[in-house]
Amino acid sequence: MKKILSIPCSFRAYTIPFLHNTALFLYHLNMEIIRLENKDNSENNRVLRQKSKPVKNISGEIRKTAQEMLDTMHRDKGVGLAGPQVGLLKRIFVTHAEGDQPRVFIDPSIIWTSQDQVRYEEGCLSIPGVWAHVTRPEKIKIQAWDEKGRAFTLEASGLLARVILHEYDHLEGILFIDRLDTAGRAKVLSKLEKQKKAG
Ligand code: NI
Repeated sequence: MKKILSIPCSFRAYTIPFLHNTALFLYHLNMEIIRLENKDNSENNRVLRQKSKPVKNISGEIRKTAQEMLDTMHRDKGVGLAGPQVGLLKRIFVTHAEGDQPRVFIDPSIIWTSQDQVRYEEGCLSIPGVWAHVTRPEKIKIQAWDEKGRAFTLEASGLLARVILHEYDHLEGILFIDRLDTAGRAKVLSKLEKQKKAG
């Protein structure tokens, strides 16, 4: 977390005003995604496993963060990204599911989930190269605030519902591999171990 925050600050300090936009663009490129490590109690794992705190005050700073998160998500070709994944333990996530627009969710609450559940293959920018089928509700209703501080309620189904539930889990310190059965989880962990050995 400290590392990520130190990059933009030191960068901006040495930037002349008319280059400010360029500096922000470079900052976006510098937002690092925290990856799960196959060892207990690492700093990365500690961040990913922690429950995030409410944003409460939606300021210009959080608006900027939301934009940076969207840029980072697009850069890494993800469909969703949550605060803890960039070292920010705040209740914010962004999505851009296929066929949908980019969205920002701040202090979200899942207010309804359908009885119907569906299985679908998921991956995560914090666990690259790993994919597994996860069962989740097919439809959901979520209440949240956008980056401008406007409250909204959204009903989602299909891929968007899935992405929202996956990102919401991140705010609770839950990863998609936690929702697998024992066999599925063992498979994922052995894959992580192989990746680690391969360097
Ligand atoms: Ni994820």
